Amino acid sequence: SETAAFENAADTDWALRVNSKWARDKVREVKEAEVPVVPLVIAGAEEAGFSNDTVEDPSIPRKVSYMHAMAGAEQIERALACAVECRGEWVALGFAKRAEILRDVAVELAKIRGEAIATMVKDAGKSVMEGDAEISEAIDFANYYARSIESDGAELEPFGTVLVTPPWNFPFAIPCGSVLAALVAGNTVILKPAPETVLTAWVMVQALWRAGIPRDVLQFLPCPDNELGKSLVTDDRVGAVVLTGGHETAEMFLGWKPELHLFAETSGKNSLIITAAADLDQAVKDLVKSAFGHSGQKCSAASLAIVEGEIYDHPGFRRQLRDAAASLVVGPSWDFQSFATPVIRPPGEALERALTTLDPGEEWLLKPEMIDGNPCLWSPGIKIGVKPGGWFQRTECFGPVLGVVRAENLEDAMRIQNDSPFGLTGGIHSLDDRETSLWKETVEVGNAYVNRPITGAIVQRQPFGGWKRSYFGPGAKAGGPNYVAQFGRWRNVTLPA
Ligand code: SER
Repeated sequence: SETAAFENAADTDWALRVNSKWARDKVREVKEAEVPVVPLVIAGAEEAGFSNDTVEDPSIPRKVSYMHAMAGAEQIERALACAVECRGEWVALGFAKRAEILRDVAVELAKIRGEAIATMVKDAGKSVMEGDAEISEAIDFANYYARSIESDGAELEPFGTVLVTPPWNFPFAIPCGSVLAALVAGNTVILKPAPETVLTAWVMVQALWRAGIPRDVLQFLPCPDNELGKSLVTDDRVGAVVLTGGHETAEMFLGWKPELHLFAETSGKNSLIITAAADLDQAVKDLVKSAFGHSGQKCSAASLAIVEGEIYDHPGFRRQLRDAAASLVVGPSWDFQSFATPVIRPPGEALERALTTLDPGEEWLLKPEMIDGNPCLWSPGIKIGVKPGGWFQRTECFGPVLGVVRAENLEDAMRIQNDSPFGLTGGIHSLDDRETSLWKETVEVGNAYVNRPITGAIVQRQPFGGWKRSYFGPGAKAGGPNYVAQFGRWRNVTLPA
């Protein structure tokens, strides 16, 4: 019930050798396995695509790790027709039964933890530990959304069919959470997985079907991001779209269809303030974890540190920060020791510029280097002298580059932090309660963290979602109150007394 404490799934205890051996074995098994072409699933049946696409392993330059089917126009049409046709039965099941299925999903996800982690290692270049946390989050989403609909205790009128278009950076947890929230509210769902991580989404949907989600109620439809993708987003049979991706993509969707019911988490440029009253050892540790975990590709990642002058000017701080980042193990994701793993694809324009170019006043505290001739694998980079309002402060780069900005004092640091088009996550390190109290009341982000890393939100404890250009739509946070309630309309009926 709503009053009972919510229990989050525990991550794997890597201090136990038996667990690290288990993960290593799984990673090897999945790495070496031949993957058959990943199919589409329309109306419950697997199909070949209209065309096929290939996906490369980010850890192994130019190695195609698998192929997957891509839907054509006729297949999209059939998926939409099926999504409409099976609505009635799914709604008729009732919310209590749907919640029960979600709890079965949570149990099933726990069973495939090893396979799912290993798939992300191969597909998304994720480290084992980052992949492990995603499975815990996916399990939490299933249990939490089951509980949400139960505690609301009434049927809502679902939108009908929801299209889910997730990102590649959390290739398991984000699609899983979005799909389950829409389903439990009584919608049928079409999942268009991120093109970079179709295999991970495939492992995820199969687990959902095994656990009891009807195959025709959740359809699996990789399709190209061209006119076909547009036709899916704008089709009137799609009642709502869940997008996690770039701000420009959300604007493009709304440009296509201004009345679109869009729930979107979009972009961030997150920063962590370190004041003169910080515990520096802890601050540097948390900053490095937030900046370089998953090689800076979390939407929650810290890509700026805003440091009070007294600390910034101190050579000891710079040495400590540089050494902490330089000591991170950089390597392929299948190596259990790697902390900084490959980025998803060779750097595009913004990341390339961030990795290779200094703007006036900037210097490398730690220069990023390409490792092992792999254009996806870069050692962490740190720029100091980054100017407030400059290119790096304002541009989302999605990679292992941290910029350090000097601030005169806390007020100045907060001005710089809040002067951002985005408002996803943010942090402060200070042991002075007056500073942290002031900060908590004025920081313009959805997820604000004091004296800890700024990534890794936990379902129910840290519902996740941003402000400003970091979201579109009603803005309820993933893994928090009202998230499921967004997926339909509430009808209040009053009868004569
Ligand atoms: N929820 C993730 C985090 O907090 C980002 O999507 O890191």
